Amino acid sequence: MTEEIVKSALCKVLYPGFTKDIVTFGFVKNIVTNGNDVSFDVEITSSAPEVAEQIKDDAITELKAIGASNVACNVIAPTLPRESSSRGKNIAPQVKNFLMVSSGKGGVGKSTTSVNIAIALAAQGKKVGLLDADIYGPNIPRMMGIADIKPEVNGNKVLPIKAYGIEVMSMGSLMEPGQSLIWRGAMVMKAIEQFLRDILWSELDVLVIDMPPGTGDAQLTLAQSVPVTAGLTVTTPQGVSLDDSRRSLDMFKKLHIPIAGIIENMSGFIAPDTGVEYDIFGKGTSQPMADEFDTKIIAEIPIEPGIRTGGDDGKPISFVNPSCESSKRYFAAAESIWAMIEEINANGGVDNRAVQPTTPPGVSACSTASAPKQPQAQSGSCGTGCGCH
Ligand SMILES: Nc1ncnc2c1ncn2[C@@H]1O[C@H](COP(=O)(O)OP(=O)(O)OP(=O)(O)O)[C@@H](O)[C@H]1O
Ligand SMILES: [Mg+2]
Repeated sequence: MTEEIVKSALCKVLYPGFTKDIVTFGFVKNIVTNGNDVSFDVEITSSAPEVAEQIKDDAITELKAIGASNVACNVIAPTLPRESSSRGKNIAPQVKNFLMVSSGKGGVGKSTTSVNIAIALAAQGKKVGLLDADIYGPNIPRMMGIADIKPEVNGNKVLPIKAYGIEVMSMGSLMEPGQSLIWRGAMVMKAIEQFLRDILWSELDVLVIDMPPGTGDAQLTLAQSVPVTAGLTVTTPQGVSLDDSRRSLDMFKKLHIPIAGIIENMSGFIAPDTGVEYDIFGKGTSQPMADEFDTKIIAEIPIEPGIRTGGDDGKPISFVNPSCESSKRYFAAAESIWAMIEEINANGGVDNRAVQPTTPPGVSACSTASAPKQPQAQSGSCGTGCGCH
C-alpha cells in the first residue's frame, strides 16, 4: 500500500457537516505505510469529540475497504475552548452558552421571541444555534422557513439545518407534516438529550432553546443535561399571564439558572397604517414581577402584524425588516442578553451539579416503580414506559 493509495481512499472521508473531504481540507498529515499497515494524523479545527470520532470511523472503514489490515488514525483536535467557565454535566460541550426561552403560559410568543433573538444574536456576529425543544408542538421549522427541508443524516448523527445563518433543529424537521406525537414524558426527556448529543452542532457561541410552555420534564432534562447559562422569560402583560410567568421565573431560581430578563410580548399595538402605538393588554405591567425576581424587562415587543406574518411565512421580522421598531427592540434585547451571558461567564459561569438526580445508584427515581401489583416490577421496570430501568 502506498501513500497515494491511502490518500485517494481518504478523499472519500467527508469532514462532518461539509461536502469537502479531509484530504482536500489539508487535514491529513504524516502518512506512513508498512505493507498493509497504515498510520496517519488528521489535524482538525473542531474540538467537538463527535467530529473526531466520525472522521476516525469513516477513515478506518475506507482503508479497510481497500485492504488495509492495521489502521492507526490519530485525530489531533484543539482543546475545548474555555470561554464558558461553566461546570457540571454538559452533553453538548462544543456549545459555549445555552439560553433557555421559557414561559409559564402557552401562546405568549416564546417561539417568535426565540427566532428573532437568535437572528439578532447572529446579526451581532455570534455563531448561533436554535433548538426547538417543543417536542409536541414544534413551530420553529415554519417560522424559520424550513418546513419542507429534511436534515441530512451523517452516520448516526444528524446535521442541523441552516437558515438565516443559524443552525436549526426541531422534532418538526424529523416528522412528516401534520403528524402528532403521543409520547410519555420519558420519551420527551430522551428526545431532548438526543437533540443535544446526537445533532452535529458546530462550535456555537450560543444555543437558543425554545421550550414548550410550563415547567415540566423538558425544562428539567435540559437543566440536568447542560449547564444553562441564562433563562429568558416571555410573558404578555395581562394579569393571568403574569401569574404563570412567576412560575417560570421561580423555576429558573430552583434550577440555579441565572435570569437574563423578561420579554414583555404583545405589549401595545403598533398600527401598520399610522405607526401609532396603542395599549391593548396593558404595558409595563411586568415591572413589579421583574423587581420581585431582581431582573429587568429587556424588551417590550408590541403586537405588530409583521411579526405574525413573518412567523407564518418563515420570514422573521428581524431578518426581513431589521429597521422596524420591533426589530430594533429585539436587537437591543439580544445585546442585553449577550452582556449578561458575558458577565455570568466572567463571574465563574453556571453549575448544574446541584440539579442532578439525587436517587442513589440502583434505585429508581420513578414514583411508581415500587407499585406492588405490577408484573413488570419484578423485572425492574414500573411498566409505565417511563424508562426508569
Ligand atoms: N408581538 C407579536 N405581534 C404579533 N403577533 C405575534 C407577536 N408575538 C407572537 N405573535 C403571534 O402569536 C402566535 C403565538 O406565538 P408563538 O407561537 O411564538 O407563541 P409560543 O409561546 O411559542 O406558543 P406555544 O406555547 O404554543 O409554543 C403566533 O402566530 C405568532 O406569530
Ligand atoms: Mg412555541
